[in-house]
Amino acid sequence: MFVKGIAFCFLASTVLLAQTLKYPKPPDPKNGKQIFNNGCNACHGGDGRGTPQTISGFERPDTFPDFTKCDQTTPEPNSAWKDVIVHGGHSRGFSQIMPAFGELLSSEQIDDVIAYVRGFCSNKHWARGELNLPRALVVEKAYPEDEVVVSTAVNARGAPGFTTDIIHEQRFGVHNQIEIDVPVTAQDQNHTWFGGVGDVTLGVKREFFSSLRTGSILSLFGGVIAPTGNRSRGFGTGTTTLETFAAFDQLFPTNTFVQFQMGANLPRHTDIAPQTVFYRTAVGQSFAQDHGLGRLWSPMVEFLADRNLVDGDKTNWDILPEMQVTISRRQHVRANIGVRTPMNNTAGRSRQVVFYLLWDWGDGKLTEGW
Ligand code: HEC
Repeated sequence: MFVKGIAFCFLASTVLLAQTLKYPKPPDPKNGKQIFNNGCNACHGGDGRGTPQTISGFERPDTFPDFTKCDQTTPEPNSAWKDVIVHGGHSRGFSQIMPAFGELLSSEQIDDVIAYVRGFCSNKHWARGELNLPRALVVEKAYPEDEVVVSTAVNARGAPGFTTDIIHEQRFGVHNQIEIDVPVTAQDQNHTWFGGVGDVTLGVKREFFSSLRTGSILSLFGGVIAPTGNRSRGFGTGTTTLETFAAFDQLFPTNTFVQFQMGANLPRHTDIAPQTVFYRTAVGQSFAQDHGLGRLWSPMVEFLADRNLVDGDKTNWDILPEMQVTISRRQHVRANIGVRTPMNNTAGRSRQVVFYLLWDWGDGKLTEGW
């Protein structure tokens, strides 16, 4: 099913010849170079690394860009840069020294200068930030990220209880990301509350393919879930488990997107914990205020299927509608909330309210950018 999904998406994107970034006319980096040399060079330097401070006359903020550093520039989508160029640094909580060009340059001229600035990063293997789709509550995305997420699921029915996952993700190299997930659970078990750490996951995700032109990105994940949770309380499986999955995301020119994730959990001792397979999809649409430059609202629906590989077991299906919104002006702090409802096999599976707060720390401190 998943392979078919991927094949379908590749097909759909080639058939549509999806040009993920939409322009009234294709941007012209040659014209962009002239604009850069006239209006940006004095501060950003002819080589894009920044004019020496002795000449530019201002002290560089920590976040001052070196446009030749692909690790710093590729995660930024064009819309983020355009917002800063149109409205000035302060519109995303950056330094006021970065002036607003919205009155001086036309929208096309700004697209041209962005196209030119993109050329300073010479390694084209870095996945572009446009493919960093809004994070769903459950489906894991393909884009390698620098972020911290605190995600909580609260039972809305049945025995009161909640689980909070503290997730740390960090990129390394061009394609890779490590991931640590520490779950903390609290539950009312026969009118007494018990709490504790669950099974901790440590894993590596690697991006294998990405294309801004077709809007597609594919990653594989491999990790170990350690039996750190108390099994008798139901907080852990009691056995080391290998987790593996593939994630494929497709962005369409209308800012509609689909994220697929399919994988398996393979415990060492299958006598105490079953092998499971999962198939997850998130379908969503992003809407940005202020002509595509401002606050981003991303409604999504997730379809979640889990199955224990045990004779006679059926697939559990859940549906999870949700809304993600950027809350800081820099858009590096985001919130998401939704309701996860079991569609079948509902015995012992409670409806849950799920929400997270996400901090993309590659984009600045938590206190910056408001
Ligand atoms: C007066 C100096 C100055 C001029 C002129 C200037 N910039 Fe900047 N620019 C800055 C500074 C300073 C920052 C860093 C802001 C920060 O990180 O707080 C910046 C940041 C940026 C960023 C990074 C935003 C991000 O998301 O990290 C972009 C893109 C940018 N400038 C593009 C341009 C372009 C294009 C021009 C010309 C049209 C231009 N700048 C002209 C000073 C300038």
